[in-house]
Parts: sequence; structure tokens; C-alpha cells
Amino acid sequence: MKAIRVREFGGPEVMSLEEGPDLQPGPGQVVVTVKAAGVNPVDTYIRSGQYAKRPALPYTPGMDSGGVVASVGEGVSGVAVGDRVYTAGAVTGTYAEQVLCNESQVHPLPEHVSYQQGAAMGVPYGIAYRALFNRAVAKAGETVLVHGATGGVGVAAVQLARAAGLRVIATGGTEKGLKLVLEQGAHYVVNHKAPDHCEEVVSLNRGRGVDVILEMLANVNLGNDLKILDQGGRVVVIGSRGTVEIDPRDAMSRDASILGALLFNASEHELAGIHAALVAGLENRTLRPVIRREIPLAEAPQAHIAVMESTGYGKIVLIT
Ligand SMILES: NC(=O)c1ccc[n+]([C@@H]2O[C@H](COP(=O)([O-])OP(=O)(O)OC[C@H]3O[C@@H](n4cnc5c(N)ncnc54)[C@H](OP(=O)(O)O)[C@@H]3O)[C@@H](O)[C@H]2O)c1
Repeated sequence: MKAIRVREFGGPEVMSLEEGPDLQPGPGQVVVTVKAAGVNPVDTYIRSGQYAKRPALPYTPGMDSGGVVASVGEGVSGVAVGDRVYTAGAVTGTYAEQVLCNESQVHPLPEHVSYQQGAAMGVPYGIAYRALFNRAVAKAGETVLVHGATGGVGVAAVQLARAAGLRVIATGGTEKGLKLVLEQGAHYVVNHKAPDHCEEVVSLNRGRGVDVILEMLANVNLGNDLKILDQGGRVVVIGSRGTVEIDPRDAMSRDASILGALLFNASEHELAGIHAALVAGLENRTLRPVIRREIPLAEAPQAHIAVMESTGYGKIVLIT
């Protein structure tokens, strides 16, 4: 099978397509024929060698895929050869024609959901669910600001929040992106490039602060986020690319909480709950991943450039 291999950390060009042996499942493992692989910003951080956890070289990047079960190991009972699945996390990387997973990393993909959409599930929907429900404990009737709603995580958060009965205010940086998040269920949209966009959020929320903020770029926004929370509000840091100055009094005066959320910190038990909810959302069609761009597997370096230049409009996926 063909797979992208990284033999040294560095720029996108360190990824190249190589031929390798077919994968064999051990006990409790599943091999999936990958039809599409999700490209996440974290894949680029890892490839560059800057991420806290570095895989042993050489390695195949990628954590998410949509595909078909090719073979199952001893003791696997939840999936069978030929099943359509999405994978979330993997023993080997998903930028390949095959991926080896533990059974717990493989989830059913309903007929009406494409393989490309399956590849958009694991990291984006996983962290959006974890941040919204497990960390912020958001409830129906509350207001959430999805700060950076046009990308993979943001679209997921908008759909999840809307389906759960929250009032959703979503931000984007382009007219096209704002139209997308309105279509995906946001009640109101605001352009985060506008200098007064935080005031606009409060005015859209009838003069009140918001209950929850899901923050994709905390190094830019956290200081202002704390000023537009309601009493008892929670801001969840999902993405950050630097440092930021805050006024701690803004948190103190509101009994507010700043919460971090990293998908890799989720326990097996927590992930099982998250994916049970995500599969249900696919089945009842409240979750509909949006694909921005499909790129051939051999052009993975191009995909890494594109994901970091992102003008949000859903997910980038690699096609095998
Ligand atoms: N904590 C975790 O476990 C976890 C998991 C997944 C992702 N992440 C992180 O979360 C972030 C988003 O991931 P993604 O996959 O959704 O990336 P993506 O598809 O590239 O989307 C990036 C998003 O950031 C938005 N953005 C740009 N400038 C912004 C600003 N000033 N304020 C608010 N938002 C802004 C973009 O909006 P426009 O392009 O419309 O301006 C877009 O919606 C990344 O930093 C990623 O590393 C963290």
C-alpha cells in the first residue's frame, strides 16, 4: 500500500508518498481501507517537530479517516469486513491507503454520510463536543459564542450547539464563511475582523454577556472574551498560537472560568461517550461535516500549506 512518510521533522516538503507492506491487524485491532483522510492543523505542528509529543521517525501523519473495514483481528466484535466507518485516532497514520486502529477508534458511518465527511469527524467534532459539553457543560437555553466558526472545529461546534438547544452566535472572517455558518445553524453571525465585533456580540445577545465562548484563537481574543461573558460564564480555549494579556479582574467580577480543552487528554471512557453522541448526530442528520477541498494523497504537502493559510470554509481532506 502507499502511504505518506515523514523521515525528518521540517516543512511540508518532508512528506513523501512511499510504497510499503499491507497492514495486518493484531488482537482487538482493525485495518481500514482509507478513502479519505482528514487534514488537521495539529498534523502540521507535529510534522514541524514543534509539538510537545513527537512520534518516532519515520512516521505516517494523520488521525482521522473515512473508509471501509478491510480486516479485523482476533476478538473484534463491533465491526466486520466491508463496514463503512470513520476512524478517530489510529495506531498508524491515516495519510495512507490503509490504517491500523484499535477497535475503540473505529465508528459506524451511516450510508448517507460520505467518506470525505467521515474523515472530517474525529478531531474537529471530537474536540467541539468535548469543549462544549464535557468542559463548559453547556445547557439548552444558554448562549454560546463560537469564536472562529468557519473551520473544521467551528462548523462542528455550531451544528452541535444548535442541535442541543443553545442560542448560537458564530464568527468568521469572510462573507462566504459567515454565510456558511448561518446555513449550518448559527442564529447570528459576526465578522471577527471588525474591531467592534465583541460589542456586536453583546448587542445581538440583547445587551447581556454570553454564557460560553469556544475560542479558536485565544492569543488574539482571550482578553476581550473575558469582558463579554455573563455571570458564571465559561471560555474554553481550543486553539491558541501565542501568548496574550488578560485582566484577571474581568474573570473575578463575573465568577468566570477559563477552561482548556485538548482532545488528546480525553480518556477512553470519555471518547466512547463522545463518539456515541457523534454517531447519533450523523444518524439523525444534525451533524453534516462540510468539505472545503479534496486534495490527492500524493499532494499532502500542498494540503499542509492550505490548512495553515486557512480561510475557513469547512475541512480539507486527502483522497486516496
Ligand atoms: N484543543 C484541541 O484538542 C484542538 C483540536 C482541534 C483543533 N484545535 C485548534 O483549534 C483551531 C481551529 O482548528 P480548525 O481545525 O477548525 O482549523 P481551521 O479549519 O483552519 O479553522 C481556523 C478557524 O480560525 C478562525 N479564525 C481566524 N482568525 C480568527 C480570529 N481573529 N478570531 C477567531 N477565529 C479566527 C478562522 O476563521 P476565518 O478563516 O473565517 O477568518 C477559522 O474559522 C486551530 O488552532 C487548531 O490547532 C485544537
